[in-house]
Amino acid sequence: MADTKKLFIKTYGCQMNVYDSERMAEAMGSKGYTEVSSPEEADMILLNTCHIREKAAEKVYSELGRLKTLKTDKPDLKIGVAGCVAQAEGEEIMRRQPAVDLVVGPQSYHRLPEMEEKIQTGRKALDTDFPEEDKFDHLKSRPKAKRGPTAFLTVQEGCDKFCAFCVVPYTRGAEVSRPASRIVTEARDLVERGVREITLLGQNVNAYHGAADDGFDTSLAQLIWQLDKIDGLERIRFTTSHPNDMTDDLIEAHGTCDKLMPYLHLPVQSGSNRILKAMNRKHTAEEYLKVIERIRAARPDIMLSGDFIVGFPGETDQDFEDTMSLIRATNYGSAFSFKYSTRPGTPAAEKPQVDDGVASERLQRLQTLISEQQRAGQDSMVGRKVKVLFEKRGRREGQLIGKSEYLHATHAFAPDHLLGEVAEVLITASETNSLTGELVSS
Ligand code: 5AD
Ligand code: SF4
Repeated sequence: MADTKKLFIKTYGCQMNVYDSERMAEAMGSKGYTEVSSPEEADMILLNTCHIREKAAEKVYSELGRLKTLKTDKPDLKIGVAGCVAQAEGEEIMRRQPAVDLVVGPQSYHRLPEMEEKIQTGRKALDTDFPEEDKFDHLKSRPKAKRGPTAFLTVQEGCDKFCAFCVVPYTRGAEVSRPASRIVTEARDLVERGVREITLLGQNVNAYHGAADDGFDTSLAQLIWQLDKIDGLERIRFTTSHPNDMTDDLIEAHGTCDKLMPYLHLPVQSGSNRILKAMNRKHTAEEYLKVIERIRAARPDIMLSGDFIVGFPGETDQDFEDTMSLIRATNYGSAFSFKYSTRPGTPAAEKPQVDDGVASERLQRLQTLISEQQRAGQDSMVGRKVKVLFEKRGRREGQLIGKSEYLHATHAFAPDHLLGEVAEVLITASETNSLTGELVSS
């Protein structure tokens, strides 16, 4: 029998990287690798990296510094860097950290098996192409093994929007949608393996326009309706969306498709029209609020989430107050917020920067407001019945944990056979980061 070699993958950044890491592990399976959970056990280590903010990128170099010491005891250990730092920095990574054997970008990781052969001969391997061929066509078909009840599925990659702060159009490339039929096939396979909830992923997921078999393009809403027909698939989510791509059919689907969950991540970044213009967002605060109003008209109980950047170059106190007003007007169930981070090569990097102390203060005020809204949203669930997809056992004996429709982590005492099933739960308490409830007997 062929030797089994051990692969450790550490994933940074977004959910798409989580999906890519799974596919990379599967690709390396063809070379006899099985995944392990610690770098010490591994024959090969892959860091699947994120370049979105400076901190994320720097983390990779500190981790590489730690990992290279493992080569002292295990000279045959191979270290690779994948993902968006690999794409953005390429060869520079090997210069900065010579212990790195392999660098592979997010669009070329289907070539990992060949690259692995090359590094086994003592050479280095680098591939940061945006190849003509579709990596998904070249990746081996997914294994049939049983898996947990939730899964990510990439349907679209890349971005043509060029927000002035963002590296994604450079690291992930131009917008590309996968053909609808391939996505439906992959979704069916996932459901056969035990998946009940699929989150469709894309950097601009609602710009999805995948080729259909009839030659016409499929919109995200049409794709959702195709997935809706899969027996055994109970929940559909999608992320991340751009406000300008919230089309009528997608808004309508939130009101009419029972499998589409009432949760939407719709980043706006700022509430100031001046800053939105400088960010090249191509929408105003009012237009965003109008979209929200239409979504709420279609699905009144929808939980909204967003992303915010504070301290974007040129942001004044008034601009920041406009962001706070937009947050108050929207009322988020949760949100992610970041201090602006200069990314080399993006247009905003050239502009005069906001004082760091001022940006930190704004971030804190914004996060306090968001936490209040999040708390209120979570507390409002007490006394309500929600549907929970149980994903795993809780820390307390007999308790299971899962997510409600609104993505709240929810605990309840429930029998093990409900793992991987959706059950009704009456919410009795709202804790710091989760809800507790009682199973409603059906
Ligand atoms: N600085 C800070 N935050 C950023 N984001 C993207 N680029 C930057 C940057 N240069 C945030 C945006 C985006 C999320 C994924 O990361 O809010 O929606
Ligand atoms: Fe990181 Fe953005 Fe790339 Fe995702 S798309 S891996 S968040 S830089």
